[in-house]
Amino acid sequence: MNKPPIKHFLKFDDFTGEEIEYLLKRADFIKKRFKNYETWHPLQDRSLVMIFEKASTRTRLSFEAGMLQLGGAAIYMNTRDSQLGRGEPVEDAAKVISRMCDIIMMRTFEQSIIERFAAASRVPVINGLTNEFHPCQILADIFTFLEHRGPIRGRTVAWVGDANNMSYTWVQAARLLDFQVHISTPPGYALDMSRISEAEQKHLRHFEDPREACRGADLVTTDVWTSMGYEAENEARAAAFANFCVDEQMMALASPDAVFMHCLPAHRGEEVTAGVIDGPQSVVWDEAENRLHVQKALLEYLVIGRVPT
Ligand code: CP
Ligand code: NVA
Repeated sequence: MNKPPIKHFLKFDDFTGEEIEYLLKRADFIKKRFKNYETWHPLQDRSLVMIFEKASTRTRLSFEAGMLQLGGAAIYMNTRDSQLGRGEPVEDAAKVISRMCDIIMMRTFEQSIIERFAAASRVPVINGLTNEFHPCQILADIFTFLEHRGPIRGRTVAWVGDANNMSYTWVQAARLLDFQVHISTPPGYALDMSRISEAEQKHLRHFEDPREACRGADLVTTDVWTSMGYEAENEARAAAFANFCVDEQMMALASPDAVFMHCLPAHRGEEVTAGVIDGPQSVVWDEAENRLHVQKALLEYLVIGRVPT
């Protein structure tokens, strides 16, 4: 079999808009077949190694289940009980691990670690979340929007809260797929504009008042106030973000058919009220499930390439 050239998914814009569109279509096809109990094992005898520096429920489970459903196997590693946590150079680990599997998924603190790992890897590497980006989650979010409301092109996403890995990934996706992001962050927690290209800035509007960011939006979304790795800032963040809880009032300002998303885990009463996350506009459970389906399309694409649908 002709193997496709190595491609990594370390950030959303490692792919073209056309590739993302392909993955969304493919995810839909794979999901429907799976729901119909049809077997699809393109990755038989193939293995995924998953390396975690941080905790995870959804990412680990969706990659592990997804790989099994595609006919392959997934191997879990973490930095606490592997040599990676004891100072083995990232490049050495990448050279060894990538000789023993067909694809790798990593969740690291710094993006620079996964970039170094990928540069030394013989097989594709997928970002399962870093401090800087969470591309698999945004792929699932856009797929979920597509299922509920149609294509995201030309729509408006309101981001309320921290300028974190999720928000930077939304901005990359907005340029690639041509939609708008309205962002509202508390003073002192704004996006670092040096990380946002001029082309991306055209898809971004800042709002002091989170309510204004939500006005007319098609999708309202938020995330924890304190991401993994920033726990020392917990108290200061709780005070700074007090006005940035997505509540029923904010949802009422959004488009009447707006959906609410949260990558989870969530803290009811902090970044979102129970009324919103457990309410009729929330699609968070579909959003979580769709990690499985989009990542199956991603695994298939990176290991064997395009499959005509
Ligand atoms: N949303 C998400 O990535 O969840 P986990 O941290 O549980 O993997
Ligand atoms: N921004 C959060 C997402 C968790 C899935 C974090 O990085 O902890």
